[in-house]
Amino acid sequence: QGGTMFGEERPGSLPEIAQAIMACRRCPIGCNGTRAVPGEGQSDPARFGGLIIVGEQPGDSEEEQGRPFVGPAGRLLRAHLEDAGLDLSRAWLTNAVKHFKFVPKPMRGGGKRRLHQNPTAKEIDICRWWLEGERALLRPRLVLALGASAARSLLGKTVSVQQVRGQPMPLDDGSELWITTHPSYLLRLNDGPRAQEEGRFAGDLRAVAARLA
Ligand code: URA
Repeated sequence: QGGTMFGEERPGSLPEIAQAIMACRRCPIGCNGTRAVPGEGQSDPARFGGLIIVGEQPGDSEEEQGRPFVGPAGRLLRAHLEDAGLDLSRAWLTNAVKHFKFVPKPMRGGGKRRLHQNPTAKEIDICRWWLEGERALLRPRLVLALGASAARSLLGKTVSVQQVRGQPMPLDDGSELWITTHPSYLLRLNDGPRAQEEGRFAGDLRAVAARLA
């Protein structure tokens, strides 16, 4: 599948990429000892519908379960995908960064919570190696980036999500990139703005569904 990094060949299959991610220590997040979360979904070319969905990084629940988008943001995403008519059983779901970046926050009364931290541009750029491998193997027609980190991973530069959302952008492999907001951003909004932003998110997903139809 081409490509070497630090003198290493990239693995040539999705299961091998998933395995290699577990041992990846190329960036500081990979060195924090948590479990990596590989992409998952439809990889059979006969059934793959041509869509890769890219989030930012696994969160607390994802790291525990070892699967992408199984926490609160994932539930919101899955509900909206269904409403838009985007069939997740024909798509590939993954993240720009494969390990969970967090700071431990001591709780009153003992115990600790793991507070999400945004990956740096450099961490995203290092982890792009794996996403490039997934794209090269799956050859999607369309890549949907959720939020600024995913957008940076696909474009190699930082963009304003609000400025570039909801329109096709050509990628060098002939696929089309669409960018929208991250579902975690929607979860952080209060009722009024949330309804408005969720409406825009739903509209972006419908546009992607129409493009793939
Ligand atoms: N947020 C993400 O960006 N990815 C996940 O897998 C879960 C939450």
